[in-house]
Amino acid sequence: MLPTPDIKITDPEKVYDPAEDSFLLLDLFEELRDYFKRKEFGHKTPLVVEIGTGSGIVSTFINEYVLPNGYFIATDINPYSCASALQTNKANTTSFNLDAVRCDLLSAIQDHLIDVLVFNPPYVPTESIPSMPTTKNEEYKWMDIALNGGPTGMDITNKVLDSLNRKLSVNGEAYILFCARNKPKQVAANFQSNHDNFKVEQVIFRKAGWEELSIYRFLKVGGTKSTPSA
Ligand SMILES: C[S@@+](CC[C@H](N)C(=O)[O-])C[C@H]1O[C@@H](n2cnc3c(N)ncnc32)[C@H](O)[C@@H]1O
Repeated sequence: MLPTPDIKITDPEKVYDPAEDSFLLLDLFEELRDYFKRKEFGHKTPLVVEIGTGSGIVSTFINEYVLPNGYFIATDINPYSCASALQTNKANTTSFNLDAVRCDLLSAIQDHLIDVLVFNPPYVPTESIPSMPTTKNEEYKWMDIALNGGPTGMDITNKVLDSLNRKLSVNGEAYILFCARNKPKQVAANFQSNHDNFKVEQVIFRKAGWEELSIYRFLKVGGTKSTPSA
């Protein structure tokens, strides 16, 4: 088993502490090491983007053990997460090939460039999603922003799924985490029926207490056919 990166969270009350979902991603990427050794990126440096990096644990792990030759962009809407991700990365690698960018989802990333996308979203079903903190007194909201996914837990993830065809490179792939209440099988089937240029499959599943977590791979397999919105 590969070592877990040493986490450097700048502001513990404002940044998501790695949990079962984060560790499921680490275990998956450990399993995928040989897969990525074999994957051709057309002689270019693969661009790896993690949305919602939190402490930076997932990007740092992939950077250190799975795709050391990649260039990494770790995004988060939470500025404290971006600062933490940079520190975590610096504390665990000497490769200095990760930038942390504060933005909404993929808004700072060009279309058609991402080779590997990773997202552990706010997936918990909740009545609503909190607005962004505007004062120091509202900064408690960052933890809700890390977790709350709207009525089916899919409000944020759906936005990413809608942009996937446009954001991924020709043979790009995305790894997205779901809980059972997100109805991931149904989500995957819907996406697949609208995108015949993708292969969608569950790549890992785990019961974590009362929660059932799964990660799906959305792999672009060529062609550009898609729904008009994607
Ligand atoms: C469940 S946490 C995952 C953190 C980390 N990736 C991990 O696995 O430990 C979700 C993260 O998504 C971020 N986030 C929520 N909404 C976002 C948005 N619209 N754009 C970018 N990041 C967002 C949160 O700030 C939080 O850091």
